[in-house]
Amino acid sequence: MEASEASHQIIADLLEARTGQHLTESRRWRVNSALAGIFRQHGISNVDQLVCLLADPDSGDLAQDVVEALLNNETYFFRDKPTFDQLPGEILPELAERRRDVRRLSIWSAGCSTGQEVYSLAMLFAEQAERWQGWTIDIIGTDVSHRAILTARGGIYSQFEVQRGLGVAQMLRHFDESPSGWRLRDEVRQMVRFAQGNLLTAPHPSRLPFDLVLCRNVLLYFDRQVRHDAFERLSRAVMPDGFLMLGAGETVVGQTDRFVPTQRRASFFELAAHPISAIRKIA
Ligand SMILES: C[S@@+](CC[C@H](N)C(=O)[O-])C[C@H]1O[C@@H](n2cnc3c(N)ncnc32)[C@H](O)[C@@H]1O
Repeated sequence: MEASEASHQIIADLLEARTGQHLTESRRWRVNSALAGIFRQHGISNVDQLVCLLADPDSGDLAQDVVEALLNNETYFFRDKPTFDQLPGEILPELAERRRDVRRLSIWSAGCSTGQEVYSLAMLFAEQAERWQGWTIDIIGTDVSHRAILTARGGIYSQFEVQRGLGVAQMLRHFDESPSGWRLRDEVRQMVRFAQGNLLTAPHPSRLPFDLVLCRNVLLYFDRQVRHDAFERLSRAVMPDGFLMLGAGETVVGQTDRFVPTQRRASFFELAAHPISAIRKIA
């Protein structure tokens, strides 16, 4: 193995150990461009030099900076629109019916990146304000990336970012233009909370369980066992009659026996032990 190949492997192992994200051979090309900022900041030009710096016990937050730089934070508002539309169309009304006595819904976006997914959820509720009058809606977004969470908390997006997934009317309804970008209005910002959280560890018990958990486009790059274990933890985070929402094209089938697909709704899953899904399995 050439020195730089060995160094690439060390970097890939670091990423995987801290986040579960498996850097496949086909994604290795991203490493140098993703780390360009860190190379510049430290006056180095390749991963070999970076590995030497990392070996220094005084390297401080460098390892975390490397991990953050390598994470794929791709996201946008109302991602996978046809699936997202099923939330106000079917899933939220169903959950509202199940929670009509307590009038409370709790939602967790696990791996929320820079916040667009979480704010999209909040916009859904804000746009149906009358329907949800008197309800407590608790929405929390977590991500392993500290940087992503800071951006999410800021709630300020570039012109490019707000144009991805939002129509002009929606953009003007929920954002104000500011010198630093498009700033979400307080009525939407105040509906959500963000925290750093790693799917490799169990979520804090005080936050459990949720009526709806979104974990979209996160588990894709976990290896099989890590993904299986993550589903295990997610199953403990969902209410017995709640839902798990994955990204378009993601499934639980063949990955875990904790969740089963819901009928006619791709991307939405429920706990295998839930009586409704048990009846469906028998039928
Ligand atoms: C591709 S983005 C998806 C964001 C959003 N869910 C969406 O679908 O638009 C994946 C996010 O998962 C986060 N992530 C990766 N590994 C994680 C882990 N072990 N725990 C929590 N978040 C993780 C990354 O930092 C990144 O922000």
